[in-house]
Amino acid sequence: MAHEVKDENLAEQGQMNIEYAEQNMPALRAIRARFEKEKPLKGIRVGMALHITKETANLVRTLIAGGAEVAITGCNPLSTQDDVAAALAKDGVNVYGHKGESNEDYYRFLNKVLDFNPNATIDDGCDIISEIHAKRPELLKELIVGTEETTTGIIRLRAMEKDKALKYPIIAVNDNLTKHLFDNYYGTSESTLDGLKRATNVLFSGKMVVVSGYGDCGKGVALRAKGYGSNVIVCEVKPVRALQAKQDGFRVMPIAEAASLGDIFITVTGDKHVIDTHHIEKMKNNAILANSGHFDCEINVKGLEKMAKSKRRIRWQLDEYVLEDGRKIFLCAEGRLVNLAAAEGHPSEVMDLSFCGQALALEYGIKNKGKLKAGLHNLPSEVDEGIARLKLETIGVNIDKLTEEQKRYLASWQEGT
Ligand SMILES: NC(=O)c1ccc[n+]([C@@H]2O[C@H](COP(=O)([O-])OP(=O)(O)OC[C@H]3O[C@@H](n4cnc5c(N)ncnc54)[C@H](O)[C@@H]3O)[C@@H](O)[C@H]2O)c1
Repeated sequence: MAHEVKDENLAEQGQMNIEYAEQNMPALRAIRARFEKEKPLKGIRVGMALHITKETANLVRTLIAGGAEVAITGCNPLSTQDDVAAALAKDGVNVYGHKGESNEDYYRFLNKVLDFNPNATIDDGCDIISEIHAKRPELLKELIVGTEETTTGIIRLRAMEKDKALKYPIIAVNDNLTKHLFDNYYGTSESTLDGLKRATNVLFSGKMVVVSGYGDCGKGVALRAKGYGSNVIVCEVKPVRALQAKQDGFRVMPIAEAASLGDIFITVTGDKHVIDTHHIEKMKNNAILANSGHFDCEINVKGLEKMAKSKRRIRWQLDEYVLEDGRKIFLCAEGRLVNLAAAEGHPSEVMDLSFCGQALALEYGIKNKGKLKAGLHNLPSEVDEGIARLKLETIGVNIDKLTEEQKRYLASWQEGT
């Protein structure tokens, strides 16, 4: 067993954090109990690139309970919780990563996971899958299935599929209803504002908050900012989503117009240079920039570096840039996922659902070994619905059932007024 973590002495705190998270992940606990008996992942080597958080540790333990061996690295240089990594290392898991690792280490760790010769992968942002296809294609022959956690990863995988470049089956966990309608919406909204607050301690009330992207993440972020008493402007490129934002009561305009109005800017698009230097040129003194989309390219940070006459790390996860004319611009978490770099990521309750999706997707992929074609697949809707049912059961919520008469009625077309 091998590992590379910041400080093994943090293991005790990490263990307590993992246990604390576990209490709020009852559905995953139920899956772990079943996995312990049935061992659906027996003999499977799982290579993971997921944020190393207390919730992810519970997923790792679930996979191990199912019979898997696991090697894990993070999927963002700033998101690893060092105490959790230490606790996993103490458990004997092959874990590589520390908060603030260099780009070079990021790829070195990814390759350590690949050295493990996985026959299943769990990805968040498609970096493992890209690395395998681009640099380690010899690993493809051992690979049975992979899963992808986030919207940005799915976009990259669709591009690979279009180019006929994707060579093994990947299950789009992000596209589970029990993932993106909960994790992206409820999780990203609360944790993004949590990260922004921890980095800046700014008062949201009365501020003008500009949210770029009105997808599952952006909808939640805009709503929570409004809840704090902010005035919210939404910037979108898709007409239907822009219209939804308008009907939800937000001002909608291009970022070029919003740039001079905002106090706080939050990007959640999955796109590149959504906030560019010509937007920053127009911003007010003391404007705050934060990104919660997967990669650190949504804000043109390199451009900001060039246009600033000075920069200092003014406090933890906050950089102050002074522009030529003396205006200050503050950037949270180097433009990386603010909710994971400056806070703890999504709360455990919501990761419970996402990680049930991961565990069941892996089980499904292994059960269907050889039957799934290379390409992107959805988890069958009955499995997705089963996750919602399990979550409801474990939190003690009952729902109605269709009567036989209702089933017949809903399946028929003859009955009218
Ligand atoms: N912070 C987190 O923990 C977390 C959690 C889930 C997803 N994500 C990431 O957040 C990003 C958004 O995810 P989502 O599920 O909301 O995606 P989505 O596709 O549902 O929404 C993104 C929206 O951004 C819009 N957009 C694209 N380019 C734009 C531009 N230049 N200006 C304005 N709007 C633009 C799109 O039209 C779309 O409506 C992705 O990168 C995803 O991987 C982060």
